[in-house]
Amino acid sequence: MSKKILVTGGAGYIGSHTTVELQNAGYEVIIADNLSNSDPQVIDGITRITGKKPHFELIDCNDRAGMQAIFEKYQGIEGIIHFAASKAVGESVQKPLLYYRNNLVSLLNILELMPLYGVKGIVFSSSCTVYGQPDILPVDENAPIKPALSPYGNTKQICEEIINDSIHSGAPYRAILLRYFNPIGAHPSAEIGELPLGVPQNLIPYLTQTAMGIRPELSVFGNDYNTPDGSCIRDYISVVDLAKAHVIAMQRMINKLSDNAIETFNLGTGRGVSVLELIEAFERATGVKVPHKIVGRREGDIEQVWANPYRANNILGWTAHETLDDTLASAWRWQVRLRERGIM
Ligand code: UFG
Repeated sequence: MSKKILVTGGAGYIGSHTTVELQNAGYEVIIADNLSNSDPQVIDGITRITGKKPHFELIDCNDRAGMQAIFEKYQGIEGIIHFAASKAVGESVQKPLLYYRNNLVSLLNILELMPLYGVKGIVFSSSCTVYGQPDILPVDENAPIKPALSPYGNTKQICEEIINDSIHSGAPYRAILLRYFNPIGAHPSAEIGELPLGVPQNLIPYLTQTAMGIRPELSVFGNDYNTPDGSCIRDYISVVDLAKAHVIAMQRMINKLSDNAIETFNLGTGRGVSVLELIEAFERATGVKVPHKIVGRREGDIEQVWANPYRANNILGWTAHETLDDTLASAWRWQVRLRERGIM
């Protein structure tokens, strides 16, 4: 019998790609999602890719009784991957209480329910945002946690602390904290991808929408940073590679392959790429031009950050394989697919 995994936020961008990889690896996936930032058609995309329809429960993870009902319904859930969270940095500054409630209460509900149902472990979606601007690059997992620049970033830090405290108190489950760098791209089939609502805040959806002519011009936020070309540097990682790391992390927890009840891994490529280099790479990979202009810095942006993925590579046994050009080409195919479907 295949093992059951609960994926909260499984209809979202990273959650949907992870569900595909879990199903391909033979897991039975239950998605719990309130569709607040996703579309039910994503489930059809997952089904077309894998030939298997994941279970789907429309629920807000803040609803403790509703979450408990899911554990009752699907007896024997072995692990949880907790993606469900609000994630817009700017919005979190405007609506901090919404962010604290959504991101903290849902985690508390899950952690309280896990022991009641014998769940073996939780994989938590964290972010390189916890490092702020690191003093040493590439940044590894031992780098100090810097004061958060937004309520969103603060929720990631607090959630990490909650999980740490819970494990150290002797909770009967394991945890793996995955700190993502900048996930981009889409599944190679273009059946699923990122679906930003409204004007995109992140670079890649803005860039692909500009390349499609939906937006007149991409603004490059600043060219006066202390970097080789003056624009900010990030570690852009394929969402499919990222998704695969979750499957490996889940196997590690369920099979108790580690001596440690809690572990943290950076998920990045180890390569820093500037905004201007990224635009150039996109144009090279797709042959499509991206009109852009330099504007002032965006408040709260980190100058440069990229991962030291040594621990993920050598302890977790995961490495990012996809090239930047292939990942950018997949982002473009997805944008083209959205146009074909009349969505954007
Ligand atoms: N950028 C532009 N123009 C745009 C959008 C972005 O130049 O229209 C630049 C940004 O200034 C930054 C880079 O592109 O230098 C990447 O920006 P994103 O908004 O795509 O990503 P961030 O690195 O700012 O933020 C992402 C996630 C956060 C997470 C953070 C961790 O969106 O959720 O990484 O560092 F917290």
